[in-house]
Amino acid sequence: MMSVKALKPRLRIVLAASEAVPFFKTGGLADVTGALAAALSQLGHDVVLIIPDYFPMRQSRKGLPAVHETGIEVTVAMPDRPVTATINWATLPGSEARVLLVRQPDYFDRRQPYGEGNGGYQDNCERFCFFSRVVPEICRQMVLRPDILHCNDWQTGLIPALLNSNYAETSGFEHTASVMTIHNMAYQGRFWHLDMPLTGLPWTYYNHRQMEAWGELNLLKTGLSFADQVSTVSPTYAEEICTPDGGYGLDSALRERQADLTGILNGIDDAAWNPEADVLLPAHYSVDTWREGKGRCKAHLQHRMQLPCFEEVPLIGMVSRMVDQKGFDLIMEAAPRLLNRNLQLVFLGTGDPWYEQKVRELASQYPEQVAAQIGFDESLAHQIEAGADLFLMPSRFEPCGLNQMYSLRYGTMPIVRRVGGLADSVVPYDGSPESLQTANGFTFSDYTAEALAETVELALDCCENTELRDVLVRNGMTRDWSWSGSASRYVEVYQRALTRVANRRVEGRI
Ligand code: ADP
Ligand code: GLC
Repeated sequence: MMSVKALKPRLRIVLAASEAVPFFKTGGLADVTGALAAALSQLGHDVVLIIPDYFPMRQSRKGLPAVHETGIEVTVAMPDRPVTATINWATLPGSEARVLLVRQPDYFDRRQPYGEGNGGYQDNCERFCFFSRVVPEICRQMVLRPDILHCNDWQTGLIPALLNSNYAETSGFEHTASVMTIHNMAYQGRFWHLDMPLTGLPWTYYNHRQMEAWGELNLLKTGLSFADQVSTVSPTYAEEICTPDGGYGLDSALRERQADLTGILNGIDDAAWNPEADVLLPAHYSVDTWREGKGRCKAHLQHRMQLPCFEEVPLIGMVSRMVDQKGFDLIMEAAPRLLNRNLQLVFLGTGDPWYEQKVRELASQYPEQVAAQIGFDESLAHQIEAGADLFLMPSRFEPCGLNQMYSLRYGTMPIVRRVGGLADSVVPYDGSPESLQTANGFTFSDYTAEALAETVELALDCCENTELRDVLVRNGMTRDWSWSGSASRYVEVYQRALTRVANRRVEGRI
């Protein structure tokens, strides 16, 4: 059978996601979708990013780009009624990419994107099936004619299935290929089977090769099954998710798609996360002035967090969603041993009320050494990255992780568990002269409090060794963590997806 390659220099790319900076952010997904859209646009592609408009959250934030009305309305036939969204638009700062915001007050005028407290909103399946159904409909009505529809996480997992069914014969989608990026296997969009009508697809799709997994409707699996290419956010995580341990029940579905699966390490927005110019910092510094600059940031942080202002006491920072994934159980177990040492710990995070409470208790038990802020605070996140000497990420699993890369850029040595993207970005110092060429932090493998404590102790010793610390900090600060390389790798994935669609056409399967 003849095979075609579908190389196009300038692609029309539509990115769909449930959050994106600077508009809405609960975690790294938002950093990635916002920065990737900008990086792709800077590479010369025509990029449109489509996100829900959580209007009250937008209203409460200052400094966002202006949002305008398009005057366009899109209606989707939901099972019990037609539902209409109005489409607003904005320009993504620092790029030519356009952002389309889907305003549907019943679904998205909420206090949070996904849920409040511990659980998700009851109607999440309906909300994100609606969003997924709106995305191709916007493309059709606005004649976007995308080459690529790039979907992110379960909230957009239905889109590849819609392209293969309801939109297969629709004008404007003749050559459209879909890419599904998995940011976290632990969140799959699992709903009871009776939600199937919300998808707009017939019951014949509810089978174990397509939309069903373990007796439920699974929107991430839907995306994996139908997308032309699948990617995830680091090479190591791409391997981990194909195993029973990392696959969260979808490993066999992933193994079937292994030939189409690529791991691409996330980049960072190096304009927003730049210690030489970060507007949220009290002092700026470069790789040549980091000691002085970080010293001033540390004093400011200690003052802000009401800790004693001792320059020589090592300060370990952590900024994280407080969920099982992030290793808080290990930290709690290791805390008494660690706090025997002369060190300070600063936490910023929000999430599971149980972990929030544990962290609060630790802070009140050790007021001279531990400070915690429970909540979401962009400026404090930047100030911890700059002011800490060491940064802690003892994750149980970590698809990519951005904070360790922010830390490396800010001269803050990361202490991480060697999993997923942490393994792909943190190069451990192992005591050997060779490792000094590339080492930039500290890693451990066993998920035990002991392994964590030993590694923290090694890092503390390194903090006392001026020359060694300088080498590690330099290695971290001078490596390129920007999106430029990773964005080009996404373009390669897009080209493979287009080739697959072109070959399907030649073979008469579309
Ligand atoms: P995840 O997406 O799993 O939460 P990442 O490391 O990929 O983990 O990204 C987390 C992002 O969210 C980072 O930009 C981090 O600084 C930010 N973040 C997490 N918690 C908070 C918080 N409480 N306040 C401010 N920023 C936070
Ligand atoms: C997820 C992962 C995190 C990753 C982020 C962006 O939230 O937990 O590791 O960095 O997505 O891809």
